Amino acid sequence: MQVQPLRWTGDSLELLDQRRLPREVIWVTCHTPREVEAAIRDMVVRGAPAIGVSAAFGLALAAMRGEDVKEAAELLRAARPTAVNLAWAIDRMLQRAAESGSSAAALQREAIAIMDEDLEGNRRLGRYGAELLGRSTTVLTHCNAGALATAGYGTALGVIRAAVESGRKIAVFADETRPYLQGARLTAWELQQEGIDVTLITDNMAGHFFQQGKFDAVIVGADRIAANGDTANKIGTYTVAVLAGAHGVPFYVAAPFSTVDLRCPDGSAIPIEERSAAEVTQMFGMPIAPEGIAVRHPAFDVTPARLITAIITDRGVIKPPFEEGLRAASRS
Ligand code: MRU
Repeated sequence: MQVQPLRWTGDSLELLDQRRLPREVIWVTCHTPREVEAAIRDMVVRGAPAIGVSAAFGLALAAMRGEDVKEAAELLRAARPTAVNLAWAIDRMLQRAAESGSSAAALQREAIAIMDEDLEGNRRLGRYGAELLGRSTTVLTHCNAGALATAGYGTALGVIRAAVESGRKIAVFADETRPYLQGARLTAWELQQEGIDVTLITDNMAGHFFQQGKFDAVIVGADRIAANGDTANKIGTYTVAVLAGAHGVPFYVAAPFSTVDLRCPDGSAIPIEERSAAEVTQMFGMPIAPEGIAVRHPAFDVTPARLITAIITDRGVIKPPFEEGLRAASRS
């Protein structure tokens, strides 16, 4: 079974409701840009490339309904701040709107192109990344950078899929990824659907398994890669990168080039989304902390470039120094 997070019907966007996985497989239908914006904000759809593709269809819907495309663009842009793929897809759609006089047909074609290119790009980066892995490899991943987070196939999990397709023996360890549990709910489900060897651990078990020499590589996705290679990804990624560095395990970031933001000089310029305290103090609606407790909930952190072994993109594998490599790849 091929996992797919979104479907375009020609007049609506259907999103697999990721809040309910793995218990229920339910699709949510969006007919308006406002519904798409709410779906992104509420995490019906999540993952950097998937929210970019969804926003693109949101703008196609705006044009089809005769709504102001620029207004819809600003609404969608504000849905989530960290993943640059969202702004990237919106800017590309606005450009197409300007060239076509906001033609609904042109915007629909552009959104489909963004979706198709993401899928193709993931297959390509998957093949590049697979070459970095040995014949028999155990990989640790964090969060969900899989088919569910993209137009399909995935980035970090795309590398794993490609490695499995190439005949390598791959075992995956998935961090559960507190507080939203993308690893436990989504990565574990997605890999299990396809029969890929996956073992779930809680985030605080990672150090123990590094110490035991369990991991040959770490592969994670990205929400925004700054010009110097500093990378924002799901909260907890930095901790894993420090552990990988301390144990001499290669730490790979896998992302399409739409995740690279050359206008961001380094990680300190990346906006970090703060999400609600309730996602930390409750689990499935049940309180797990005392009422009134002070809470912080940054949803992402920044891994400094010096902890990253290579960035696997759809334009090739980029090794340090990243600034030069990313700029050269942006011109290719
Ligand atoms: O808050 P989320 O679930 O949208 O965060 C997702 C991640 O951090 C992913 O690792 C990232 O977007 C890459 S998805 C290919």
